[in-house]
Amino acid sequence: MDLFTSAEIEPARKRIAELTTLIDRYNYEYYMNDTSLVSDYEFDALLRELIDLERSYPELVLPNSPSKRVGGEVNKNFRQVAHRVPMLSLGNTYSIEEIEEFESRTRRLLGDTPFSYTCELKFDGVAIGLTYRHGELVQALTRGNGAVGDDITANARTIPTIPLRLHGDFPDEFEARGEVVYPFDAFNAMNAQREAEGEQPFANPRNAASGSLKLQDSREAARRKLMFCMYFMVVDADRFPEAPATHYGRLEWARQMGFKVQPYIKECRTIEDIRAFIDYWDTARWDLPFAIDGIVIKVNQVPLWDTLGLTAKSPRWAIAYKFKAQQVTTQLESISFQVGRTGVVTPVANMRPVWLAGTTVKRATLNNADFISKLDIRLGDYLQVEKGGEIIPKVVGVDLEKRPLEAVPFQYATHCPECGTPLERAEGESGYYCPNQDGCPPQQIGRLEHFVSRKAMNIDSLGTERLTALFNSGLVRNVADLYELSVGKLIGLETSSSDGKARASIQDKGARAIMDGIELSRSVPFERVLFALGIRFVGEVGARKLARHFGTIDALMQADVEALAAVEDIGAKTAEVVYTYFHTPAHRQLIARLQQQGLQFEVQRQAVSDVLHGAVFVVSGTFQQFSRDGIKQHIEQHGGVVSSSISKKTSYVLAGDKMGPEKRRKAEALSVPIISEGDYLALCEQ
Ligand code: IVH
Repeated sequence: MDLFTSAEIEPARKRIAELTTLIDRYNYEYYMNDTSLVSDYEFDALLRELIDLERSYPELVLPNSPSKRVGGEVNKNFRQVAHRVPMLSLGNTYSIEEIEEFESRTRRLLGDTPFSYTCELKFDGVAIGLTYRHGELVQALTRGNGAVGDDITANARTIPTIPLRLHGDFPDEFEARGEVVYPFDAFNAMNAQREAEGEQPFANPRNAASGSLKLQDSREAARRKLMFCMYFMVVDADRFPEAPATHYGRLEWARQMGFKVQPYIKECRTIEDIRAFIDYWDTARWDLPFAIDGIVIKVNQVPLWDTLGLTAKSPRWAIAYKFKAQQVTTQLESISFQVGRTGVVTPVANMRPVWLAGTTVKRATLNNADFISKLDIRLGDYLQVEKGGEIIPKVVGVDLEKRPLEAVPFQYATHCPECGTPLERAEGESGYYCPNQDGCPPQQIGRLEHFVSRKAMNIDSLGTERLTALFNSGLVRNVADLYELSVGKLIGLETSSSDGKARASIQDKGARAIMDGIELSRSVPFERVLFALGIRFVGEVGARKLARHFGTIDALMQADVEALAAVEDIGAKTAEVVYTYFHTPAHRQLIARLQQQGLQFEVQRQAVSDVLHGAVFVVSGTFQQFSRDGIKQHIEQHGGVVSSSISKKTSYVLAGDKMGPEKRRKAEALSVPIISEGDYLALCEQ
């Protein structure tokens, strides 16, 4: 039975259609033509109206509704789907001579047939294929291994430059291929935010684009301002004779359908034209808003592609020229040491400033002690610095011919530059670290930053500058001190920007915002509190697993290494670290204070009943009515506790089919009752 009568539903259907057309048009003008036809406010109001209508009439949601741009779907597993036409890669080369060979071979193979080439940018991102049917986007696949890719349709729909519906004339069915790139501005902003939140930044825009397409939460994908650059159309020319016969013409056609096709494409007839295009972009690429790593040269006349054919892996009608990483040599003036929030000490080269691929370079990481000794880097040496696909310059070698006579091997720091503690080196590791976790300022401030970050306690009124000021003033030395702050203590506190230039002091409003944020954080769930503590190797997932497994901080603190290692996703090394953490007196004191201050140290379960209160279960085998996780959840919902190993404290071993013999022996030895699924259900009925 339909929920709504047609009298109710028809006006909604009509309004949804109107809103869809309007929003699609505004989006198109904004992202393709840089034109705003309405204010942000009006645009948001229209989108909101559409989302509200869709919520009331879910049966009217169109698969390509503009509301999909903001995401909301969860991608559990990315389905693997075969490409209808394999996604080939291109032969590539760094050598201009090989481009000349490609050009003369093509000319020889084609004989008298007139033809031309297109030269275009080689986008440095992630290749995807978009299938359109009747002008609607129906599927987006990553390249994968070329034969089979991952279905990333929900995330692709959030990319504004991927048209959801096409304009004008288009084939009934075809595939648009191109590259998803992460423009520099958006990439840098996203990375800065990640760093502020204590997350690992991405190494380069390509990795970030790839990670973004594989996000489980498409709402998060929508926030990553990705861009799609179309470069290829797969269309069956027999079925669609109206398809242009040149690659250039097809891209032009695609542009009219609503795709973003970059204008930097040139029809070339001679090797001189090709060389000029390559030379131009070798330097001009640094002015582009996104990364490219070369130039692609294709035979322009599509019917000739069959004539030229394929080699084992790649077509004979196209080739990629890859840019060499740009390199300069400059003198090393000094080496300084940076202490990270986990105590790792990183040596940094301070060099005579030099211009390299669009920016001035004066500092570069030297990675670790092994790196310095392997390259035998000495003060006064001339270092070779390179910038390739990465934005960050890399030291790749030493110019030994320029080495000053007096240069002696570098003596690595023996003490922490921040707190003076002798540095240590863990067995088998390539670098040194400062072991003074609780008394080394960058480590202490780093831990505070991690504690307040979004995925931890989410106190966004406290940024790096304020935390540094709080730390330096002595008001906050560890995370528990935060909960003893007051408006009075905060007012007048001087903060300064990270470069030390701008100064300000906290006023009444700011102080209240900080206190509100701190207050709110008291209700942050246990699993995030555990993550916020910043225990080494315990990330978001590990913290969640530990919290759910043990239920309370007390149970967790009592667990031995074996019990910790029995938790899903917790390896032996992490178990060891967690155990040590909770057996360090300073940490126990810290947790006791945080408990007093009212933070959450127990998993909030949606309790159904309390009949199993006090009972500790160990679950083994498989069950009829429940999955393994399901039965564990059921126990917890009825007030019981699930433990992974059998001990004297175990109340019952709940045995399903195929219970392990080891567990049975242990239960019998300790006289722990073994009960069946039926017994268990009876117990809950009581
Ligand atoms: S054409 C059969 N054009 O480079 C021809 N590829 O190995 C298909 N790429 O996997 C590729 N920019 O990810 C083509 N303008 C462009 C490109 C491009 C980047 C990537 C693509 C492909 C790889 C070549």
